[in-house]
Amino acid sequence: MPQYTLPGLRYDYGALEPHISGRIMELHHDKHHAAYVKGANTTLEKLDEARDKEDYSRLTALEKALAFNLSGHVLHSIFWQNLSPKSGGRPSGELAAAIQEHFGSFEKLKRQLNEVASTIMGSGWAALVWEPLGSRLLTTQIYDHQSNLNQGGIPLLVLDAWEHAFYLQYENRKADFFEAVWNVWNWGDVAERFEAARHVNVALADAVG
Ligand SMILES: [Fe+2]
Repeated sequence: MPQYTLPGLRYDYGALEPHISGRIMELHHDKHHAAYVKGANTTLEKLDEARDKEDYSRLTALEKALAFNLSGHVLHSIFWQNLSPKSGGRPSGELAAAIQEHFGSFEKLKRQLNEVASTIMGSGWAALVWEPLGSRLLTTQIYDHQSNLNQGGIPLLVLDAWEHAFYLQYENRKADFFEAVWNVWNWGDVAERFEAARHVNVALADAVG
């Protein structure tokens, strides 16, 4: 069975400075993300044991641990690729047109996504998702790594709002971090995810008018 693995960054730890410090990137990737990868693999091993022993007494805790760690692995893997040192600016092409259609303007998307990130209760993420049933872009709040997701939403751009993502540099000024990250969004990566997500068909044609 394949194991989950920690993907390397496509840029140096310090490449996103001054917007995100190299020390944050190093700790965030090598410690926090690595822990979610390890946690996902360990939980799968425990599920194997549970099946072997036919002992499902801890199944609820294991399912929760799997969702927490695997979702953490997926979101961080997307987040690293959503960021790039030679980026920022604005999206172009069909992604820009879709943002205009579904949010009114790029500025309104930015305002809404930063509000989504700022108002999360506790730890979580803000995400721009493609919702294939209604064929629309939406924002969503993700508590921890996994709850409050709509079932169809495919993440295109994710913003880590856990304190470990900013506290070493921005302390309690998290709004400053959410503002700074717009200097390093990799819109080419977001556009690729958008293009792929638009081809998803959830085969629920009668569920939308
Ligand atoms: Fe994180």
